[in-house]
Amino acid sequence: TGSLTVKDLAERMGVKSAEIIKQLMFLGIMATINQEIDVETAVVVAEEMGFRVEIKERELDPEELLELEPEEDEPEKLQSRPPVVTVLGHVDHGKTSLLDAIRDAKVTATEAGGITQHIGAYQVKYQQKRITFLDTPGHEAFTAMRARGARITDVAILVVAADDGVKPQTVEAINHAKAAGVPIIVAINKIDKPDANPDRVKQQLTEHGLVAEEWGGDTICVPVSALQKTGLDELLEMILLVAEMNELKANPFRSARGTVIESQLDKGRGPVVTVLVENGTVEVGDFLVAGSAFCRVRAMIDHKGRRVKKAGPSAPVEVLGFSEVPQAGERFYEVPEEKVARQIALKRQERKRQQELKASGRISLEDVFSRI
Ligand code: GTP
Ligand code: MG
Repeated sequence: TGSLTVKDLAERMGVKSAEIIKQLMFLGIMATINQEIDVETAVVVAEEMGFRVEIKERELDPEELLELEPEEDEPEKLQSRPPVVTVLGHVDHGKTSLLDAIRDAKVTATEAGGITQHIGAYQVKYQQKRITFLDTPGHEAFTAMRARGARITDVAILVVAADDGVKPQTVEAINHAKAAGVPIIVAINKIDKPDANPDRVKQQLTEHGLVAEEWGGDTICVPVSALQKTGLDELLEMILLVAEMNELKANPFRSARGTVIESQLDKGRGPVVTVLVENGTVEVGDFLVAGSAFCRVRAMIDHKGRRVKKAGPSAPVEVLGFSEVPQAGERFYEVPEEKVARQIALKRQERKRQQELKASGRISLEDVFSRI
């Protein structure tokens, strides 16, 4: 009884079944119109489509559980939000160096005792405007995020080393960004090197559909040197320009949702989960669900190591209080009650266990067959 069909859900929400099916696909679930989906999946789908889900009954009878109320973000509640910029590129082309250079140059030295924390996400303020940067620790996390339908990036910075040119992972990154429909700004890095050849990079990029503006195309290419910290202002200006053209907005007043960027188990603090807030605001005391983990937000720490009580749209923040460590790329949602958070998480744990059981069962069966 803990389920409803795709069609039922579509009717309740007043949308087409195809919309639900599409959303399910983003979540990695292939479904047909008459397929039953469980209630927590329905909640996630509804949330993702901008509906607010309210708990009707304390009994948590799934059929009665959902009262779906379309939540058009009222225009007056929408506020502009900082762009989320992901840095992509081939191994060793200088992604991390470039981010470090921007941070060193643009973040005023307020970090306590110069302790640099490892957060693959931070925010800078440039010309009074904030920009959120995400490093891609490896392509795996990014792929995982994409597979889960997370569309967290507004702008991709494609780092290409001027001495090395376009490489397989450069092409992969271009394809990722294109598939996600994310605008690309090319940072031609290491121009300080004697064998740097920016024109060759531009030439190679044209072969992948990126034609530089100065060559009549519409791809912004900025020559930079992370080592010598040159070209950074121009790069930041271009990011703000692209962001402004896209008029990025969010509603800080709605319930929060976003993506897990990094997570680890800390001996003292328990699960430490870096999230990127996409919409709404996370506050200390809120209830969250991410995968099979739930959370009563105990504390939050920003990229400068300061405790904060709130984190709004586009903010990267460390969250303490999770029951277990959710995977990077997992979506998180705020739910109205702890009970609901717990229930959804438990159900997902159960389902995960069942799937694992099934999987291991299948393997042993195959083993048997292969032995025959
Ligand atoms: P992965 O995370 O391993 O994919 O590498 P990455 O793209 O983050 O590159 P990283 O920033 O670690 O830089 C790789 C090497 O290139 C380091 O030895 C850097 O010092 C060097 N490097 C980065 N930027 C520049 C630059 O502008 N000029 C020069 N000369 N060297 C650079
Ligand atoms: Mg790196």
